[in-house]
Amino acid sequence: MTKDARNMTVVVTGASGRTGSRVARSAEAAGLTVRAASRARGFDWRDGSTWAGVLRGADAAYLVYPSDIGAPGAAEAVGAVAREAVGLGVRRLVLLSSRGQERARDAEEALHASGADWTVVRASWFAQNFSEGPLVEELRVSGELVFPAGEVREPFVDVRDIGDVVVAALVAGDRYTGETISVSGPRPLTFGEAVAEIARATGRGLTYRAVSPQRYGENLLGFGVPAREVEALVEAFTQLLDGRNAYLSDGVRQVLGREARDFTEFAREAAAAGTWKA
Ligand SMILES: NC(=O)c1ccc[n+]([C@@H]2O[C@H](COP(=O)([O-])OP(=O)(O)OC[C@H]3O[C@@H](n4cnc5c(N)ncnc54)[C@H](OP(=O)(O)O)[C@@H]3O)[C@@H](O)[C@H]2O)c1
Repeated sequence: MTKDARNMTVVVTGASGRTGSRVARSAEAAGLTVRAASRARGFDWRDGSTWAGVLRGADAAYLVYPSDIGAPGAAEAVGAVAREAVGLGVRRLVLLSSRGQERARDAEEALHASGADWTVVRASWFAQNFSEGPLVEELRVSGELVFPAGEVREPFVDVRDIGDVVVAALVAGDRYTGETISVSGPRPLTFGEAVAEIARATGRGLTYRAVSPQRYGENLLGFGVPAREVEALVEAFTQLLDGRNAYLSDGVRQVLGREARDFTEFAREAAAAGTWKA
């Protein structure tokens, strides 16, 4: 840790979300002052007039673009927030990105071009996609997860490891400035194997059913998700779930000097907390 890390104030966007809440927790545990940012806390990615008030006077920021870093408009928004931050003297920026998603590179490049002292953390799929967010209710209520992932393998990363890596990068001075850190869990699992792990942890007969991305898109349209969003999601899933991401990344070990948390540990803890209780 650098000498002045404890005096650092870090703006955490998405602070009520999956990764932001863990970044905030890890930062507080490391002695940093956290300035939580989300729409309820007066920061809106879609409204530039809300940015300066949250960023001014901070030393660093964790940037997480809501929903999908590869979404239309994400790169422009990331670039604009980053330039505003740099202009206000908040030079140290860490951006969450995703592995294997070509459209995510535009947002990374917008960050690089902003003049920030940047670090990009590229993550695999989150283990917490199964316990927090839109997939949970389906699995909990119907006992079945319908998803366009076929038999593809993914090394699900625990978002607590993302929080720890982001904070370690922030407090390490210049060590990770200008670097892209790729993180994943320690074991590639199919979505079926992941649901089977959750079934074991809960004692429920939970199952996974693979559908095509097109069929999944039709289901989303049926649930009222806007066509533009469905199109972007289907494109992202088709790309992300074609097997290109079945490899392991060792960013957690490189930065934290320990192994990444395993999916079994995640499933046991979330089951014990009652996440998938019928
Ligand atoms: N899911 C994955 O497996 C995965 C893998 C790699 C990368 N990623 C990337 O992770 C990001 C999503 O991160 P996450 O899962 O941690 O987020 P999340 O749990 O979906 O939470 C979104 C956060 O952003 C806030 N938010 C939503 N709309 C906002 C707006 N217009 N302005 C300001 N804040 C807003 C929300 O709070 P309020 O609603 O209170 O504003 C919430 O705190 C995406 O960029 C995605 O591409 C995801």
